[in-house]
Amino acid sequence: MSAPRPAAVIVLAAGEGTRMKSTTPKVLHELCGRSLVDHMLSVARGLEPERLIVVIGHAREQVAEALAKTSPDAHQVVQEQQNGTGHAVRTVLEAVGAIEGTVLVTYGDTPLLRTETLRALLTRHDEDGNAVTVLTAHVPDPTGYGRIIRDATGAVLEIIEHRDATPEQRAITEMNSGVYAFDGTLLADAVKRVSTANSQGEEYLTDVLAILRAEGHRVGAHIAADFAEVEGVNNKVQLSFARRVLNDRILTEHMLNGVTVIDPASTWIDAGVTLEADAVVHPGTQLHGATRIGAGAEIGPGSTLTDTVVGEGAVVRNAVCVSSEIGPRASVGPFAYLRPGTRLGAKGKIGTYVETKNATIGEGSKIPHLTYVGDATIGTGSNIGAGCVFVNYDGVQKRHTTIGDHVRVGSDNMLIAPVEVGDGAYTAAGSVITNDVPPGAMGVARSRQRNVEGWVFRRRAGTASAEAARRALEAGNDT
Ligand code: UD1
Ligand code: CA
Repeated sequence: MSAPRPAAVIVLAAGEGTRMKSTTPKVLHELCGRSLVDHMLSVARGLEPERLIVVIGHAREQVAEALAKTSPDAHQVVQEQQNGTGHAVRTVLEAVGAIEGTVLVTYGDTPLLRTETLRALLTRHDEDGNAVTVLTAHVPDPTGYGRIIRDATGAVLEIIEHRDATPEQRAITEMNSGVYAFDGTLLADAVKRVSTANSQGEEYLTDVLAILRAEGHRVGAHIAADFAEVEGVNNKVQLSFARRVLNDRILTEHMLNGVTVIDPASTWIDAGVTLEADAVVHPGTQLHGATRIGAGAEIGPGSTLTDTVVGEGAVVRNAVCVSSEIGPRASVGPFAYLRPGTRLGAKGKIGTYVETKNATIGEGSKIPHLTYVGDATIGTGSNIGAGCVFVNYDGVQKRHTTIGDHVRVGSDNMLIAPVEVGDGAYTAAGSVITNDVPPGAMGVARSRQRNVEGWVFRRRAGTASAEAARRALEAGNDT
């Protein structure tokens, strides 16, 4: 469906949202990796408006700062006092001047509204040649909403707020969503003439309909097919509902694009995440931020990835990965923690109970078990034995460890940074490596073993150990 590009979209987001019972401003509450208002701005961008305007007021420093980072293309207009939706729009038009063309007004707290629904509203507005077209919906319980008042022919007359409505009007189930397409020039003029003669003493944007109609302009409505789309988020129950619905939409889109999601009910994928076809997402997995999953990769079960890039065919099980890169056909977990700056090469392995941070691990290199690797560079084809610690912190500073290609670091090594193990070198199990190991050398840094013969018979006489040893010696099993 092609719809005309609006001249502007104005997103009203100045209200306080007291029912969230939160110190976070309402429109900054997060779902699927974006704030409420960022969702609305993203939906609005789908219409390719010439201008994107957002009205802020309550907690405006915080909201302004957040929006400057996430939506720098949105022009911010401050409404110092929230004197009503009409006042909010008037404030914008006084700040930026009358806008010629179609102006779409919407709220910052309706994250389920779809771009297609706004397109349908704009198309109706354009085709009917209206001065204003309001998006409405029939709802099971319209309590609190403005009601759409129509005449016997079905023509829209006006919008009456719930608290200003008569019992007969309150019986109307068609509600005002608060989303409208306006002729910008007519809006700029009419919004100046909205009165405050209502129960709240506010300037109601809804009054613009009656004003324009009284002047002989066409006023229309477009009924949304799905009323859930226009329901705002006012408390945390509605926030969790909206999050679930948005998540379902995101998963559905990925599945239609060829991604396998084993258990949608326990899978959470942010709006900004990308997955290629044939990726498999196992239960209990969360993909956040700018995470990208390559074709055929398997993620989960029980994994949380944030801003992490996973290459084709890689496998990530029971892992937490933050700002990391996992190469094609590499393997991570189960039970691994990849902290920021981890870069695992193709076919590499970060195994079980392994933590990494700021570490580049070359192609085919493996860190299979029980190891911490921080501030390190590991070449290609190397193996780090079980239970190693890259000792990167001297109590004051972080220092770097460099491991070459095809190195074999023995189990239970402490590599005291700064230190370098050259290409093809080995280190002995149980070593504390404080000096560089040259290429091809074996670094041994541990004391020699001595056995004190018969110690158990003398010092632990009569114990089960002494008895077992006696039996072994008698059987000649004394190797
Ligand atoms: C409004 C509509 C009502 C509609 C309902 C749908 C009016 C008079 N009423 O009622 O017909 O059914 O929305 O949800 O418009 N805002 C500002 N500045 C203000 C006042 C509000 O930016 O001065 C913003 C709020 O942040 C909010 C939105 O506008 O996102 C709606 O404001 P709210 O006060 O919640 O309006 P309702 O009383 O719900
Ligand atoms: Ca509201």
